[in-house]
Amino acid sequence: MLKSIILAAGKGTRMKSETPKVLHEIFNKTLLSYVIDSVNNTGLADENIVIIGHQAEKVEEYVKKNYSNSKTVVQSPQLGTGHAVSMALPLLENYDGEIIILCGDTPLITSETIKEFVEFHRLEKSDLTVMSAIFDNPANYGRIIRNQDGSLNSIVEEKDATLEQKAVHEVNAGIYCLNWSKIKPAFKDLKSNNAQGEYYLTDIIKWAAGAKLKALAFTLKNNEEIFGINSKENLAKASRYLNNRTLSKLMAQGVTIVDPISTWISPETEIEPDTIIYPSCYIEGKNKIGKNCKIGPFAHLRGDVVLEDNVKIGNFVEVKKTTVKSNTNACHLTYLGDSEIGSNVNIGAGTITANYNPLTKVKSKTIIKDNAKIGSNSVLVAPVTIEEGANVGAVGVITKSIPAWALAITRAPLKIIEGWVKR
Ligand code: UD1
Ligand code: CA
Repeated sequence: MLKSIILAAGKGTRMKSETPKVLHEIFNKTLLSYVIDSVNNTGLADENIVIIGHQAEKVEEYVKKNYSNSKTVVQSPQLGTGHAVSMALPLLENYDGEIIILCGDTPLITSETIKEFVEFHRLEKSDLTVMSAIFDNPANYGRIIRNQDGSLNSIVEEKDATLEQKAVHEVNAGIYCLNWSKIKPAFKDLKSNNAQGEYYLTDIIKWAAGAKLKALAFTLKNNEEIFGINSKENLAKASRYLNNRTLSKLMAQGVTIVDPISTWISPETEIEPDTIIYPSCYIEGKNKIGKNCKIGPFAHLRGDVVLEDNVKIGNFVEVKKTTVKSNTNACHLTYLGDSEIGSNVNIGAGTITANYNPLTKVKSKTIIKDNAKIGSNSVLVAPVTIEEGANVGAVGVITKSIPAWALAITRAPLKIIEGWVKR
């Protein structure tokens, strides 16, 4: 049995924001969700305990609303990482499984790494495993101090470290796995007589060594995974790392990305081979894009978009909560929201699905069936259905459903008045 404790009580002063640090987002998903999802996706954990403090109400509400297998515990005041974990003691009084501890502000940690880490802990029959990482510049991290024989001695925080200890490049990544019933007593023994006057979680390593328990370090392969968010600049960097990861994966699967520098694709977007993504596209949320599609340049897919094969979504086209069947084109200047669009449909330049009524605040659906043609600059006022093969003349304002194979025209007839200008 395994549960996680996720530390998320810290203030995040350097974010300079009214939003709690862990509720900042990358691709519309909070930092905290990245961590919880990574844990949940291992399939190993049955419960997550999130330690909250700064703006606790907002974080608590968020966790309650989004995760049925997660609870929150308030830490107030925040007296350090060891103190934070000890807040979960009452909840885990009779618990006898493993606990993994992670931070809520390191969104790039992957399920694969967490799995490997726990497997290592189990295989080695360790009582306490800490994740370490090797950094050229280890500044600000706790240093992993080993004995002559390579076994773990302790973790020393930078602020408490001697010059010799500061020279160590192996650092504490801030992720732990513990056999709870064996390590639990350590939390009652933590002291705060250190440079920061805090109860350090890291002191459990020294405690375990003293108690003759087996404590090991597992070294992380890709340091990016523990990149922590403390500022808006860090947030931008993490977004870039995550994006690069997604683009590399998609390109390896056969998707053409013309300009990875200006292309943003959320990790939850699936794209099939031979689709081309032109420069400056922003694709967020969950989407499924088929084969041989052409997207962009300058397209915005806002999530819950399903495109079948050979679909074209061109420049300045925004698509949200919409399904588009094969061989359909929306090539220019268009908004498609809350729609179902058939095969072989042509959506003329400047078409808008008016899905939102600002008076009733209701969103409605637009349905366009196979082989329909929508003339340029048309507004389809939802709820509305354009039946199979129907045509909408340019500048149509469509407020009623159009029957199959009909032509709908709403514009005033063109009047030509000869010689009017000269007169
Ligand atoms: C901690 C580790 C350090 C490690 C680094 C990795 C300790 C003492 N040090 O240092 O060895 O290299 O993480 O990033 O643990 N938090 C609480 N309550 C508190 C204090 C912190 O919930 O009272 C949370 C923070 O919100 C954050 C996490 O714990 O998510 C880590 O805290 P932080 O202050 O960033 O620890 P570091 O000093 O970076
Ligand atoms: Ca930190």
